[in-house]
Amino acid sequence: MSTATANKVFSERIGRIEVSATLAITAAALKLKSEGVKLSDFGAGEPHFATPRHIKNAAIEAIEKNFTRYTNVAGVPEVRRAVVDRHACDFGSNYAPDECVFTTGGKLALFNAIQVLVDHGDEVILPVPYWVSFKDIIQYAGGTPVYVESREDENFRVTAKMIEAAITPRTKAIVLNTPSNPSGAVVSPEDLESIVRLAHKLGIYVLLDECYVYLNFTGKIVSGGSFTDCKEHVVVLGSLSKTYAMTGWRAGFALGPKPIIAAMSKLQSQSTSNTASMVQQASIAALNQSQECVAEMRSDYIKLRDQVLAGFKTIPGLTCTVPQGAFYVYPNVSAFIGKGGVTSASDLAAKLLSEAHVVVVPGEAFGTAEHIRLSYAVSGDVIDEGVKRMREYFAKLG
Ligand SMILES: Cc1ncc(COP(=O)(O)O)c(C=O)c1O
Repeated sequence: MSTATANKVFSERIGRIEVSATLAITAAALKLKSEGVKLSDFGAGEPHFATPRHIKNAAIEAIEKNFTRYTNVAGVPEVRRAVVDRHACDFGSNYAPDECVFTTGGKLALFNAIQVLVDHGDEVILPVPYWVSFKDIIQYAGGTPVYVESREDENFRVTAKMIEAAITPRTKAIVLNTPSNPSGAVVSPEDLESIVRLAHKLGIYVLLDECYVYLNFTGKIVSGGSFTDCKEHVVVLGSLSKTYAMTGWRAGFALGPKPIIAAMSKLQSQSTSNTASMVQQASIAALNQSQECVAEMRSDYIKLRDQVLAGFKTIPGLTCTVPQGAFYVYPNVSAFIGKGGVTSASDLAAKLLSEAHVVVVPGEAFGTAEHIRLSYAVSGDVIDEGVKRMREYFAKLG
């Protein structure tokens, strides 16, 4: 082995990505918590609800019945059938079970889809603000994110026109996340259809992160998979994490053209293999049994969103778009940057934590410099206390 090779520890590709930007703030928050500080925690992007009882029971039963062995890499036929049936029922799609791979969380579905589609030099269109992992996953594959800025005064709306303007001969894929983490913006059904049709015409892949698809508050819920005549160029990336309060279970899926799903399964066969077998059984229960829990959680999120927005109205200088889905608010904090020694949104997030004991995620993680993200998947009491602390802290900044 040559000295140069021996001295080189890390691959070039691991240097292309960063540690999740939320990690520093999470570590600081954990430290304060361990010292006994009571935090108003709006950091975590996960439901505060418990996983519904019937889903837990299905996993317990699977374990008791020793359903604890390896399964097919892409998931047992029943779980893939449950995914495609639920999707067909809710969105009018027509996927077959072999157009579905069940994955260890929605993030892995996204990761694998990008790994099998994106090569060095390929461009991937990514609307801003974006969920933090998109950029890194694209870069890890060697692709170049091409950012499309949405406008705050248009509620961070992403339109077909904006996407079209960013297409070049090197565009391989478009990543869309609707409802969006972090802004809660929803791509209108008309724009979604135009984007999917345009991409299909041009031979570009639309990677639709539909992790929050059931947390759409507009009443008009569509999926990229609804446009069945374009399915050759659509990959739907789904997750049970937020829909069924199952973040820790790691259950997600992709729906797409058979060759893409086969390539993703091949990649999965050389990494995680199948999703935990009892998690597959719990997921079958989640997808096949009553969906009442989903509707209940959605109506609670709408109430919590309205509560946090009403609270923000009591904070002079803070402005916020009205999210149409997911469970995040993305207020603009530019009025406070430059005051009281605050130099940036990141600095503000650090000071909100150390001085007001409020956990938020700075906008830099999502590609914008003047915002902070709060998850309102918390109790109403946490919202009231957190908003009070923010109001007092911002008032002190003058
Ligand atoms: C936009 C988006 N996509 C995907 C995921 C991943 O979800 P999971 O891997 O838990 O299914 C998240 C989680 O926060 C998300 O916000």
